[in-house]
Amino acid sequence: MTHPKIFITRLIPSRGLILVEERFPTFEIWPHEMPPTREQLLEKVRGVDGLLCLLTEKIDAELMDAAGSQLKVISSMSVGVDHVDVAAATARGIPIGNTPGVLTDATADMAFALLFSAARRVVEGEKYIRAGKWKTWHPQLLLGKDFVGATLGIVGFGRIGEAVAKRAQGFDMRVIFYDPTAEPAYGAQSVDLDTLLHQSDFVSLHVPLTTKTKHLVNADFLAKMKPNAILVNTARGGVVDQVALYDVLKSKQIFAAALDVTDPEPLPMDSPLLELENCLIVPHLGSASQRARDLMSQLAAENLIAGLKGERLPNCVNPEVYK
Ligand code: DGY
Repeated sequence: MTHPKIFITRLIPSRGLILVEERFPTFEIWPHEMPPTREQLLEKVRGVDGLLCLLTEKIDAELMDAAGSQLKVISSMSVGVDHVDVAAATARGIPIGNTPGVLTDATADMAFALLFSAARRVVEGEKYIRAGKWKTWHPQLLLGKDFVGATLGIVGFGRIGEAVAKRAQGFDMRVIFYDPTAEPAYGAQSVDLDTLLHQSDFVSLHVPLTTKTKHLVNADFLAKMKPNAILVNTARGGVVDQVALYDVLKSKQIFAAALDVTDPEPLPMDSPLLELENCLIVPHLGSASQRARDLMSQLAAENLIAGLKGERLPNCVNPEVYK
């Protein structure tokens, strides 16, 4: 195929773009800061052979059909693929590419940044100064939580969960995890979910969003957490029932939450979570380091190119399409 039709849904880092350009110079890219609307996307994908998308696009059966039966590959510049109907793609024989591994450290770093910030009240302190409230050093000012000897509970012990455990070792924390499919690593001990919730001072979420993990963190889950515990979410917003979270934060049943991800994204400005001092929220920055994003764009480009050449994707979410 000399000139396949390719659509890239946003300006991705040049490392990936250059790779696509070298091999297939005639791709179309959405140049705006905001993603295409659904209508625009359905229009743009018509007749494409390859699609490189982000987690902001809903890639479902309707979109695949709008693209047409010539569609050979969908490559997402993300490790998570909850925005893609993988079963629909498999049914149509379309391989889905993702970008695992290269964002593990950046995301684990962000989990720790959030954990520290919530525990030591970094954002509250910053706001305190800017509000002109800093009058003196006070022995009781903005006291937070300690790490040494504290228990960190990791829910989901895949690559990122393990990388979080590795970091926790350096802070002399005890680490336990809940993941029936994972083996222990970095001194972390496998426990059941109730034990994890009853024992953890910090709970960090690292599960993908699936029908099974949707609202895993509900009122029941939160009620089992230790009073004074901190919840960190760098996984997906949909894993947490935000109404239940609001209630426990408002009534100070747990100490704080620190969220990199919300449902929906962006979080509407009238979300009650934004009223709470003990809820720290950042705009889905887990993989937002230059290196991680460069490598994600490279992997996404490699998946796209392989798919267009009729080769097996280096990182394929649905390898069953090759059977
Ligand atoms: C992913 O790749 O799924 C991450 O959420 C991006 O930060």
